[in-house]
Amino acid sequence: MAEPRIVIADDPDDQAERAAGHVVVAIEAALRRRGRADIALSGGSTPVALYRLLAQPGWRVRVDWDRVHLWFGDERYVPPDHPDSNLLLVESILLGTSAYSSQTRDGARGTSGPLGLNVPASHIHPVPTQEAIAQGGGPAWAAERYAAELSAELPQAANGAPAFDLILVGVGPDGHILSIFPGSLTLLGTGPIVAAVPAPQHIGPHHPRLTLAPRLLTAAADVLVLVAGAGKAPVISTVFGPPPDPAACPAVLLRREGVTWLLDRSAAAGLPATLAVER
Ligand code: 6PG
Repeated sequence: MAEPRIVIADDPDDQAERAAGHVVVAIEAALRRRGRADIALSGGSTPVALYRLLAQPGWRVRVDWDRVHLWFGDERYVPPDHPDSNLLLVESILLGTSAYSSQTRDGARGTSGPLGLNVPASHIHPVPTQEAIAQGGGPAWAAERYAAELSAELPQAANGAPAFDLILVGVGPDGHILSIFPGSLTLLGTGPIVAAVPAPQHIGPHHPRLTLAPRLLTAAADVLVLVAGAGKAPVISTVFGPPPDPAACPAVLLRREGVTWLLDRSAAAGLPATLAVER
């Protein structure tokens, strides 16, 4: 098996710095290649330090954010001002904006705060939970709408799926990635590119979810997996141990060439000693 690139950071600050460096390089490559960059962000707690760092003056000037489009790898089916909303997390930490407002989606600049990124509001692509909730459309409606937006905006990869320049991914202790949970066998096929997923019962937060389908991970030019904390060492040991079964542990789908795993030391304690790593 051609293994992914595995990088072990010294501590949380080092992990955030290396992740920020990776994001900047991926954006620069995309801007050279196609004049714009499309990134799918992840929710959860692990990317918070990365988002905070990217929004700092020293980092944010390194990227022409005007030409970057921000998307969401997954979202909880909640309104955008709900504390569990991934959009809210990104807005408050990365963009430095107040609650998302549809009035800013007209191409005008967002209300970026002193530490936020100056991404044009029309380049921010939230999963339309707000509209779906307002119209009573439900998660399936939001998934369809997001899929249509992705297909219209992104180039198509060889596998027919929209091709992101970078997808950021976290890993749950149960091995989920995005909102692809253990047992989500149907998501592994050729169904819709954005799926509505029932609220997980075994892990919180217990909201229905919207998620990119796994084949978008294959279609992406780059995937960066961020994992931190001793609580993730067991799942790392499952992913990198034999024999990988994506149905039981979806994170195994990312054990392949072309993906970068950036772990902190505590999570990396689960790696088998035989794997080549960078420090
Ligand atoms: C979400 C995420 C999810 C997350 C993992 C890891 O919206 O919940 O996209 O897949 O990345 O659960 O979460 P932590 O970083 O909080 O451990």
